Amino acid sequence: MSTRALPLQPPVFSILSGLIEERIGLFFAEADAPILADKVTPRAIELGFDSLLDYYYYLRYDAGAEQELEHLADALVVNETYIGRELEQLTVMSDVLLPRLLAERPRLRIWSAACSTGEEPVTVAGLLDDRGLLPRVELVASDVSERALALARKGEFSGRALRSLPSGATRWLRFDGTTARARPELLASVSFRRVNLTDRDEVLGVGPADVIICRNVLIYFRDSRIKQVVQGLCDALRPGGYLLVGASESLLRFGGALRCEEHGGAFFYRKEAT
Ligand SMILES: C[S@@+](CC[C@H](N)C(=O)[O-])C[C@H]1O[C@@H](n2cnc3c(N)ncnc32)[C@H](O)[C@@H]1O
Repeated sequence: MSTRALPLQPPVFSILSGLIEERIGLFFAEADAPILADKVTPRAIELGFDSLLDYYYYLRYDAGAEQELEHLADALVVNETYIGRELEQLTVMSDVLLPRLLAERPRLRIWSAACSTGEEPVTVAGLLDDRGLLPRVELVASDVSERALALARKGEFSGRALRSLPSGATRWLRFDGTTARARPELLASVSFRRVNLTDRDEVLGVGPADVIICRNVLIYFRDSRIKQVVQGLCDALRPGGYLLVGASESLLRFGGALRCEEHGGAFFYRKEAT
């Protein structure tokens, strides 16, 4: 049975949604107030609060709030993803961009920067393995949600995660009834960690990457926040490296240091080589 949402008056909505945007990046418009109340209420109740204003004060000022922000992120994020999502872009990356980069250096680092429950990095690992590139690539995958990361580390997929399987996926996964498991070598090639994209230090702490895949997360941010996150990702890219965003997440309106390139019908943002 779902918990009845605690009241979220406009002034409390304003400060609470502002704090969430500041710390996690997610933007909630005023019209989304009932959705936000629904998602936040179970967290507030679990901590023993009967008002969302008290919960806000806890989040803003209490010493234990950092940990609670992680739980709150788990409750707020949208983890929608599936094996083979927006595959063309990843295929072109593997067939066109990676060979070019590998001509310049022996090993590459690819970072799936909002990997959700792991379907994206497993897809990338599978594509690389198909092409014999996996030994030359270090794969890092991160998300702000520990809950999503715990599932990603298991490498088990079912239901909607398998709804649009590319033909090659039978080489990447072992099927057992309605569940599929990533091949252990593919899963072992990915190192998972928690990174909040709005935290510049955490982003830079991942270390320089040749390719950053940051897809279908910027849609949840406002432009000012997207600009800041993209700047951090650009700083984390090696010169000449590529940023991949989702099909509906054009960065053209921001200008900046990344140049948009089209290859094989897919779009990529390239940091200038120095
Ligand atoms: C819709 S999923 C996209 C997954 C995958 N990249 C794809 O395209 O299928 C969005 C993911 O972004 C993550 N996310 C949201 N805010 C984030 C933040 N501030 N830092 C890192 N990840 C975040 C969510 O936890 C969620 O797993």
